Amino acid sequence: MASETNARRYTPATAEAAAKNAIRGTAESTAPVILSVRDLAVEYKTSVGWMQAVRGVDLDIRQGEAVALIGESGSGKSTMGFALLRMLVRSARISQGTAVYRDRSGKEVDLFGMKDKDFRKVRWNEIAMVFQAAQNSLNPVMRISDTFYETARAHGMTDRKAVRDKTIDLLKKVQLDAERVYNAYPFELSGGMRQRVSIALSLLLDPQLIILDEPTTALDILTQRAIIDVVKSLRDQLDFTMIFISHDLSLAAELADRVATMYAGEIVEYGPVRDVFYQPKHPYSVGLLNAVPPIVGEEFTPLTAIPGSTPNLLRMPTGCPFHPRCPFATEICAKEDPPLVDLGGTHMAACHHHDKVTKDPAVWERMEAAG
Ligand SMILES: Nc1ncnc2c1ncn2[C@@H]1O[C@H](COP(=O)(O)OP(=O)(O)OP(=O)(O)O)[C@@H](O)[C@H]1O
Ligand code: SF4
Ligand SMILES: [Mg+2]
Repeated sequence: MASETNARRYTPATAEAAAKNAIRGTAESTAPVILSVRDLAVEYKTSVGWMQAVRGVDLDIRQGEAVALIGESGSGKSTMGFALLRMLVRSARISQGTAVYRDRSGKEVDLFGMKDKDFRKVRWNEIAMVFQAAQNSLNPVMRISDTFYETARAHGMTDRKAVRDKTIDLLKKVQLDAERVYNAYPFELSGGMRQRVSIALSLLLDPQLIILDEPTTALDILTQRAIIDVVKSLRDQLDFTMIFISHDLSLAAELADRVATMYAGEIVEYGPVRDVFYQPKHPYSVGLLNAVPPIVGEEFTPLTAIPGSTPNLLRMPTGCPFHPRCPFATEICAKEDPPLVDLGGTHMAACHHHDKVTKDPAVWERMEAAG
């Protein structure tokens, strides 16, 4: 069940602090920052204490851009999304940090400090989320038309005709046979069609920012391709800002302007997509790139798994959290957690040896062979 009791008091970030700490937007983009997250930490209560799933995240998102949040299972991607929408489970809490959101009128609001009744005007109207496995979350006993109408009604839109017209338009925009789908029940639709419906539903109230959590997971590769094309076309037609969550860096590279790589709750690399994709500076980003087949291109590329597994968040390794799995690790890595540093051109990485990082799969194969 959703909890809205975790709100933390907002301390406005000074321009100076923001300049010092922020993960900045692309050098090219001069659009205003609409979401500014600072030092965000989110914890889950466990039988042995609080477990930090998001650890000190800073993130700025500019109007109109698409930012991909990439990482293995358990790296904290969904937790970030739920925190921003204040939809964390009751056993979770935002233990520190702020998130300042600039709404469409240009007014800045404190997402974590707002009263519940005020926040309800932000959720879905301003910021919407397509949940992980959303294709399975449509109400099975409601026709698609009713699901859209009930969502609209809950936000004060009661004109059935207007909601119908908007729904039909959105279903067309996600490239569905709108009239048929409008009258259908979810079980009459394929997984890919239900995912398109979920994406259309998230757009019903014209949000400024959409968080898409793994929109292609559990879909076959052709359907994945189709969903990516739908999202691209929607971005061309509707002017929304997007956070795209995925474990697949090559997929994100197709959609995003910038990429943030998350490991064990921290952002360890951030930058324009071409930089992170072609010249990754954190070994973990390289590992993610080598671990999945690209969905574009015809060349066969051998895959290399990242050795080991994600750390137990209750017993984090000393120093750099990635060091037990990193082929570039040296003595300092086990002792000192590297800060995220600016490498120029808004490309940032948290790695002591970022200048030595290469994409050469042989480096990883040697580590795998060494056990
Ligand atoms: N409701 C919960 N209660 C306790 N721990 C949770 C809960 N939800 C997530 N976690 C833990 O928080 C950490 C981050 O989980 P999260 O779901 O945010 O990761 P993710 O990056 O979205 O992973 P995936 O790619 O599998 O969706 C994980 O260790 C996970 O086990
Ligand atoms: S700091 Fe060291 S262990 Fe961490 S990613 Fe860089 S090289 Fe690897
Ligand atoms: Mg997730």
